[in-house]
Amino acid sequence: DLAQIGVTGLAVMGRNLARNLARNGYAVAVHNRSYERTRRLVDEFGHEGTFVPSESMADFVASLARPRAVIIMVKAGGPTDAVIDELVPLLEPGDMIVDAGNAHFADTRRREQALRAHNLHFVGTGVSGGEEGALLGPSIMPGGSPESYRTLGPMFEKIAAVVDGTPCCVHIGPDGAGHFVKMVHNGIEYADMQLIAEAYDLLRAGIGATPAQIADIFRTWNTGDLESFLIEITADVLGHVDAETGQAFVDIVLDQAEQKGTGRWTVQSALDLGVPITGIAEATFARSLSGHAEQRAAAREAFPSTSGGLTVQDRDQFIEDVRLALYASKIVAYAQGFDHIEAGSAEFGWNIDRGAVSTIWRGGCIIRARFLNRIREAYDENPSLKSLMVAPYFAEAVNAGVPSWRRVVVAAAQAGIPTPAFSSSLAYFDGLRAERLPAALIQGLRDNFGAHTYRRTDRDGTFHTQWAGDKKEYSA
Ligand code: 6PG
Repeated sequence: DLAQIGVTGLAVMGRNLARNLARNGYAVAVHNRSYERTRRLVDEFGHEGTFVPSESMADFVASLARPRAVIIMVKAGGPTDAVIDELVPLLEPGDMIVDAGNAHFADTRRREQALRAHNLHFVGTGVSGGEEGALLGPSIMPGGSPESYRTLGPMFEKIAAVVDGTPCCVHIGPDGAGHFVKMVHNGIEYADMQLIAEAYDLLRAGIGATPAQIADIFRTWNTGDLESFLIEITADVLGHVDAETGQAFVDIVLDQAEQKGTGRWTVQSALDLGVPITGIAEATFARSLSGHAEQRAAAREAFPSTSGGLTVQDRDQFIEDVRLALYASKIVAYAQGFDHIEAGSAEFGWNIDRGAVSTIWRGGCIIRARFLNRIREAYDENPSLKSLMVAPYFAEAVNAGVPSWRRVVVAAAQAGIPTPAFSSSLAYFDGLRAERLPAALIQGLRDNFGAHTYRRTDRDGTFHTQWAGDKKEYSA
């Protein structure tokens, strides 16, 4: 019998996606560059469902029912192109190639266009949830043609996470839309993690709590508005003790955060689109800073600590302040991320429904959180919301948090504790709500040194002042 869908690339993500499909009753063709992995999958998990293993790509393709659906789960970049090049001559018009890796959306757009010329569907698909999600139910963000979604959608919706009876999978939009949304998801993931890390750092310095005690604080937070997967696993990681040394695990890990690049892509794209995603950018740069070990060593020597540390009068109030600062900053990060999605959607003509995106991020993915329900409600109520922050629920939450947010940022600045994400989110908030911004002065300077012109508050038109001469104003 022919398989209904195929997976090539059987490292842990591909293997778990294949198993998820098989466990849900689909006959799954499986293939890997080296057959060993394919054999091991069938040996270990063959009892879970129907796997159709092949050694060669040609046999793999031949084992699929038409129109063929092939999921490729290999490294982004060159390896993905290599697999596509191998597949294309073996496929027929109407067949579908699904790239479920973390590809750059621009690559996905290029590939989609190239394959369309062969009458093949190329479906760049974001998949979030790590190893466990891939196996038990990820959040799935497919791009590509609506036609391809008619075949793939039911399968993807079956294997995706489910929240309140709704699968965490929706057709995001054409060509690169799925990978774009997955990229922004990862950017938000970076911001979420940086905010959590700053909260931990502040608590540790402020109340002198041990990692285990802070784990308990996060556990408590996870019963309220902040409830989310990342807060939950923060408690796990902080509570973990290194078996070898008996020390808190977090104290024996090298403090240099790595990245595979999706956060960087998010920031790059936001720069191109002119969207201020400052929380995500600071989170990404904070990782870079952490990695510059030699520079850090030199700076430690040049600038020994002069602050008296963080003195907290009221322990409970401080914990609550940090919680509210975290929540307000998190709202900023999501507001910025959804602005980024809106800008990408407009630029590339994707027509992305932000309410649908928040719906499928409620489960399965790394940033899954209780408050995504609130985001969904906000977009349900007003699909063309100007900023998530001004939706009634979020505006109220931010307003309630502002005094705490300011106290925390002030305390951190005074104690010399770096809080790039907390601080920049607060600055974004203040920038957004300012009556007048000093951008007016920047316009004046630009006009002064480069005749770059400016607009006036009191009448239409573009103007230039003759700075070097009579200082008369001219209509430009
Ligand atoms: C997910 C994750 C995943 C990502 C890791 C690592 O949604 O399942 O986003 O796709 O690869 O989180 O990312 P970094 O190595 O860049 O931190």
